[in-house]
Amino acid sequence: MIPQKPKAPELHFSEYISSVRSKLISEGKTGDNAPGVYVRTFGCQQNEADSERMMGVAISMGYRKVEAPEEAKLILVNTCAVREHAEKKALSIIGSYKHIKDSDSEVIIGVGGCMVTQGHRADKLKMSYPYVNFVFDTGSLHKLPELICGALQGSPRRIVSCGDSFSITEGIPIASEKSYRGWLSVMYGCNNFCSYCIVPYTRGRERSRHPDAILAEARELVRGGALDITLLGQNVNSFGNGTDFGMDISDLIREICKIPGDFRLRFMTSHPKDASDKLIAVMAEEEKVVPHFHLPIQSGSDDVLRRMNRKYSSADYMRIIEKLKAAVPDVSITSDIIVGFPGETDADFEDTLKIIREVEYDMIFSFIYSPRTGTPAATMEGQIPKEVSNERYERLLELQNDISLSRNKRFIGREMTVIADEVSRTDKNMLTGRGDPVRPIHFAGSSDLIGKNVRVKITDADTFSLRAEIIL
Ligand code: SAH
Ligand code: SF4
Ligand code: F3S
Repeated sequence: MIPQKPKAPELHFSEYISSVRSKLISEGKTGDNAPGVYVRTFGCQQNEADSERMMGVAISMGYRKVEAPEEAKLILVNTCAVREHAEKKALSIIGSYKHIKDSDSEVIIGVGGCMVTQGHRADKLKMSYPYVNFVFDTGSLHKLPELICGALQGSPRRIVSCGDSFSITEGIPIASEKSYRGWLSVMYGCNNFCSYCIVPYTRGRERSRHPDAILAEARELVRGGALDITLLGQNVNSFGNGTDFGMDISDLIREICKIPGDFRLRFMTSHPKDASDKLIAVMAEEEKVVPHFHLPIQSGSDDVLRRMNRKYSSADYMRIIEKLKAAVPDVSITSDIIVGFPGETDADFEDTLKIIREVEYDMIFSFIYSPRTGTPAATMEGQIPKEVSNERYERLLELQNDISLSRNKRFIGREMTVIADEVSRTDKNMLTGRGDPVRPIHFAGSSDLIGKNVRVKITDADTFSLRAEIIL
């Protein structure tokens, strides 16, 4: 047997971070002179959370966050694959960065996220976007320091994939977009394989973070001033399944609520199959938990739900809703709904409208079905023509808008605490706040309130927002 040459030991990601940091310091590239980093994010909160890690890596290396790609020496794009539109947008943005590279060949461009976790998309980037320095899938975020370091040393282009070995790496630095809002991932991946959905292929199998790591991060967020923390997971309420943690999502939420501090807690997205009575009780009893349950139904038709592989019937779903409403009387319920799933008949669609009327959602994220390569639904018979889907989508919006308006009006006259989140783009004397209502709350106030809790009284409501005034 030929003796194998021992492989050079792999460096830990923190060693790559330190080496870039030392290089930038030795070149005097610090402070205002530090190279810029720009991260562009598509997709869900899970991607937002990953982007905060990408930014965290770059800032730990000594990069300086900039607001435009033209000002950056390092551009990272975090892509989404959930619908065709998301992929088209990402590809067009990546295409638009070519001119930046043309005018400055030192600029490093990296692409990560769900779109490039699909082999055929990674191949497309390799072939058609030669100016992209590296591509890394969602299971290779911990490789980012190595990839940036390599690109700075002029290594050839790299396409990195974890294969099927999606794991969890703790300790990647995080640069929060807003210190008062924390995204806290508790689990990753999905085992459900809904027949339309690409996520199980782009995020791998379900795995939960260790509760100690989650609690440590929660304490860190609260210490850093977080007022609004959202527990994240593709199926957040499956946290703990298949582990020996002796803890499920309800226990975890109770533990986080024990951390002293003036913060509110949210969690998303919940799958109906794990929406337990225990979790409903947590929402009813824990003051820090916002009374908002995002519980996607996807369709009101049992036949469509079966072909979607959702694993519940509309009656199962309604039983959870009834229990939720009984336990948390003022709960806001929101949902995701897909219109135009293959084979959806007029009667199936009417079943969806019926559920919408019965539940009275505060808000719905509705989507026209988009076939995803490699999923079972993409090759199902009975693909719905665009005009039919569009017409159904419009009818759904019309119904939901009426319901949203009446749900929003219930807040008029109430006093509540909201976080001043941002200054209005159109009027610098107006702020937008976030609180218990799922919709944004607009009120007059000065920008020094941003990131603080403010007491307001709701004065008016329309379909998409509420208006309020500050009270002392
Ligand atoms: N894990 C979450 C949702 C993840 S994706 C859940 O199960 O609810 C977010 C939403 O995108 C889904 O709830 C679904 O409504 C929508 N979606 C997923 N795949 C889609 C597709 N192929 N076409 C249209 N909408 C889709
Ligand atoms: Fe997609 Fe279904 Fe998993 Fe949600 S539960 S991520 S919709 S496969
Ligand atoms: Fe998109 Fe991936 Fe999230 S496909 S919706 S970014 S999990």
